[in-house]
Amino acid sequence: MSAWSASLGFALLMSCQFAVFAAPVADVEAGKKLAEQVCTACHGEEKTLNSETPILAGQTWRYLYLQMKDFQRGRRTNELMSPLMKDLSRQDMVNLAAYYSQQTFRGQNERGSAALIDAGRKIADDALCTMCHLGGFKGQNEVPRVAGQHYSYIVKQLVAFKNRERTNDAGTMTAYMSNVTREQMEAVAAYVANLQTR
Ligand code: HEC
Ligand code: HEC
Repeated sequence: MSAWSASLGFALLMSCQFAVFAAPVADVEAGKKLAEQVCTACHGEEKTLNSETPILAGQTWRYLYLQMKDFQRGRRTNELMSPLMKDLSRQDMVNLAAYYSQQTFRGQNERGSAALIDAGRKIADDALCTMCHLGGFKGQNEVPRVAGQHYSYIVKQLVAFKNRERTNDAGTMTAYMSNVTREQMEAVAAYVANLQTR
């Protein structure tokens, strides 16, 4: 065997291994198409109008992908989302996550009272939320962006973590919320919903 064919064989072996372990490459156009067919009705183009439906635009890729997978596997449940995830392939979810994560976050126009927002800022500072969610709650990897998310959606999720109705967080959020009162959650939600982080 020549040195050349030996190294070709090695290269082929490596590329096969790579093909097995590499994350699938995202097709953003396919993601956009599927989103327009299935998701836009509720999640909108760049923002949603229903305040219990989360804004996906500008969310982190990894968080979006993991949530879809969790809905599909029943680790997170919602009567609207769960049935829609059933027939999606892994590649579909990769494409959809890429499409939404590449959209620009435009924010929304929810306003709480200045006093409530201020109280929320203090709670968030004391609780060190941004240790995980990053400054301005802009998110990273599997930790979601929450800045500018809908107030009602944020409150609903915090309550769900506290009551352990949502448990797909590996215990981080459920632990954080266990001693937080409803009033404190509303204040934090008003603060975070009004953050204008880009
Ligand atoms: C019938 C309305 C509806 C449709 C259609 C829909 N969703 Fe949702 N989606 C929701 C609601 C409502 C929630 C919030 C669920 C909850 O409260 O836990 C949600 C949550 C999500 C989340 C979690 C976001 C977060 O911040 O945790 C992702 C990701 C998501 N949807 C992706 C999609 C994708 C991708 C599609 C299209 C394939 C889609 N959804 C179609 C209503 C919908
Ligand atoms: C130790 C890390 C950590 C800390 C501290 C933390 N979070 Fe989280 N948070 C997470 C992770 C991880 C998730 C995603 C959980 C999942 O995958 O379902 C999350 C999810 C959330 C969600 C749901 C977002 C969505 O789109 O559904 C909200 C709202 C939230 N956190 C707010 C807060 C607030 C407010 C604080 C401070 C009081 C806080 N978090 C502190 C790690 C953290």
